[in-house]
Amino acid sequence: MSSSNDIRATFLGYFARNGHRVVESSPLVPRNDPTLMFANSGMVQFKNVFTGQEKRDYVTATTAQKCVRAGGKHNDLDNVGYTARHHTFFEMLGNFSFGDYFKEQAIEHAWNLITKDFALPKERLLVTVYSEDEQAAGYWKKIAGLPDSRIIRIATDDNFWRMGDTGPCGPCSEIFFDHGDKIPGGPPGSADQDGDRFIEIWNLVFMQFLEEPKGTRNPLPRPSIDTGMGLERFAAILQGKHDNYDTDTFRAIILESAQLTGQEPDGLFRASHRVVADHLRAGAFLIADGVLPSNEGRGYVLRRILRRAMRHAHMMGAAEPLLHRLFPALERQMAAAYPELSRAASLITETFKLEETRFRTLLDRGLGLLEAEKAKLGEKEALPGDVAFRLYDTYGFPLDLTQDALRAEGRAVDVAGFDAAMAEQKKRARAAWAGSGEAATETLWFDLKEKLGATEFLGYSTETAEGSIAAIVADGASVNSVTQGREVSIILNQTPFYGESGGQQGDAGVIRAGDAVIRIRDTQKKLGDLFVHLGKVESGDVSVGQAVIAEVDHTRRGAIRAHHSATHLLHEALRRRLGTHVSQKGSLVAPERLRFDVSQPTPIAAEDLAWVEAEVNARIRENAEVTTRLMTPDAAVAEGAMALFGEKYGEEVRVVAMGHDPEAVDRKGHYSIELCGGTHVKRTGDIGMFRLVSEGAVAAGVRRIEAVTGAAAYAAMEAEARLLREAAAVLKVSPADLPARVAALVEDRRQLERDLTETRKKMATAGVEVETVAGLRLALRDLGDMPGKELKGLAEAILKGGAADVVALVSSAEGKASIVVGVGEVAKGRADAVALVRAASAAVGGKGGGGRPDMAQAGGPDGDKTEEALAAVRIALATA
Ligand code: ALA
Repeated sequence: MSSSNDIRATFLGYFARNGHRVVESSPLVPRNDPTLMFANSGMVQFKNVFTGQEKRDYVTATTAQKCVRAGGKHNDLDNVGYTARHHTFFEMLGNFSFGDYFKEQAIEHAWNLITKDFALPKERLLVTVYSEDEQAAGYWKKIAGLPDSRIIRIATDDNFWRMGDTGPCGPCSEIFFDHGDKIPGGPPGSADQDGDRFIEIWNLVFMQFLEEPKGTRNPLPRPSIDTGMGLERFAAILQGKHDNYDTDTFRAIILESAQLTGQEPDGLFRASHRVVADHLRAGAFLIADGVLPSNEGRGYVLRRILRRAMRHAHMMGAAEPLLHRLFPALERQMAAAYPELSRAASLITETFKLEETRFRTLLDRGLGLLEAEKAKLGEKEALPGDVAFRLYDTYGFPLDLTQDALRAEGRAVDVAGFDAAMAEQKKRARAAWAGSGEAATETLWFDLKEKLGATEFLGYSTETAEGSIAAIVADGASVNSVTQGREVSIILNQTPFYGESGGQQGDAGVIRAGDAVIRIRDTQKKLGDLFVHLGKVESGDVSVGQAVIAEVDHTRRGAIRAHHSATHLLHEALRRRLGTHVSQKGSLVAPERLRFDVSQPTPIAAEDLAWVEAEVNARIRENAEVTTRLMTPDAAVAEGAMALFGEKYGEEVRVVAMGHDPEAVDRKGHYSIELCGGTHVKRTGDIGMFRLVSEGAVAAGVRRIEAVTGAAAYAAMEAEARLLREAAAVLKVSPADLPARVAALVEDRRQLERDLTETRKKMATAGVEVETVAGLRLALRDLGDMPGKELKGLAEAILKGGAADVVALVSSAEGKASIVVGVGEVAKGRADAVALVRAASAAVGGKGGGGRPDMAQAGGPDGDKTEEALAAVRIALATA
């Protein structure tokens, strides 16, 4: 028997041998296509190659592509579990030619592979072609030798393949397998074609056209090939089964599910096992590709899938959450081909567990309500819409879960009533809002939010994405289009731009719409999750509905990321050094710096700052992984995540962990673990380098630290090093000798100053000449340009030396006069230094002076009148 893994390998191997490049499956979330919710076929990743917009270094390729058809144009969710071939997740095997070979060779390859390599009997095969495609019919005759009776012409869209409303398309030809007349059903195109006898196994699309938005269809530059074979149904044929759920991959999961729930695999709960197996695959692969359960967009599709599976697990009586326990069985089956399953294993199992744990009580209570409500209804009477809405709004029952729960008894849900109840709730929210007294301009955002819903944020995993313009706001009003030069606020359906929050600045970058360029300088969030891009139309015209490519300024975002991750390491390092009283009080994360405020009563000592800086740099060099997970706030706190006191969190939080610390058992061995919605580096080493720039007070009990990382840290250190080099050059020493040299210079200088003061003293006191005035020995000296601050010391020295009873000293520096008058022991009571200095001050234009009776000083602007000042002292003493 060929296992599914063998079949995939044989398919890819065949085309590889025939010159095709084996290309990896693209992620389930299309990066290059805003019109698609999930990759739904193999050609999605090559869309721009078909149109010629993008060139690759190969012209033929083959893939095994992960696909999800749930939500959006192709939605198979409702049928899963109840049919043999519907899946939310499946694999599509395909081969592609981008302007290389066309119809003939595509048919030849397909025929060779299935009849030779896979050895399917020719007589069990038949094909369809588009009714106008005689050429294809001709090749089937020539290559496969099929008779006309087994080449069925189909006139409908079934044989004209489109990816979506727009994009590459063309006529197609499908290969069918005949399970034989034991099974009811007619050939394609017949009245009973929907029976199970004839099963389509491979679709060959002859890509020839490009469908444009307004329904026009233009030829592609070069005709191309896109094919798709559903691995699950092909495996069923090769494994001699009629039902995809009986193939190896599904069987392994279903048997495990039977084991864990104690319910027979093909008994009463056959459908439930199938739903669980299918949804397990979709859930695991979506999470591995970065989708996490939420109430919007792709996240909500995932949540619906998981909750639907959970109801079936619950019905089977699973006492504990089931999905995460089934994951190992899936991993064993599929991780060899899709290693992302193993890489994301812990994220997948934790997310499953979290979703299921949280939903269990709601599910119980909601099902109780459902039973009670059903009892009020007549047989087959539809469930009223308001009940379905209550289940949705209060118990988290997606509409399709309720529908699924009623399916077995053939009861429907009044969907129109459900929609009306939903609309009614929106109206109430709006009335409450209008009454809340918010500014009128904000009403505009409310209207837009209500109309458009939340913006889907893609920026955790990509910085460039396609999107479409959902709204344009210019001069405070919502408009349909704007022209070059206008300042605008743009809202997209989805965006990689981070909207400012949690201290992290909004992204800047560029949004291109056709030829138009909108330069975005900032991104803000309105009403929680409406992302508004603020910018200016640099060129061209822009209108609502246009497809765009939104590209974040990568360098800027990279710098922001590094600064954000550094705040986490800084936070933890500060707590380790200073104590756990340290907690974050605010932060700013910008491309050029970070600011971090912490509760800390006293200034942080220099040696503590040095330790913290060294610690953060050591963690950076450790280059440890940075991981992000979603959890409930309680679970996050139980993991040891630092919750910011007083902060309000939603029902789920992102938990960012970085670094290792085996001793931090309370944090599961992570160096740092925090609740954070920001964007972060992949590994701590990406931060590059960390440098503290300043530390200071910001409010009572709060210290503010500023720091830089990466290139900015390097620039800061380089600027410091340059100063050092320049200083060393001036002193003619190497930078290493600088401290010793500067210390020596400072010491030299001190010594010189001391010597100078000594010398001056000697000069001033040596040979003091005195005159006798009023019976006292008066010394008057003009000391030229001696600094004023030295006069007092000299006056004291002269008095102490006993050479005079009263001394008056003047000097003049930079045009200004300084005067000191000292009165010695003998003259005390007979002369007053303050009165004398005042007299002198008047002579130099001063405004008096001050001091004590034995020592006083003054100054004045007239530096050239020092002689007059001395004369004034003499007169004042004589007349005292
Ligand atoms: N793209 C084609 C399909 O999905 C092959 O059927």
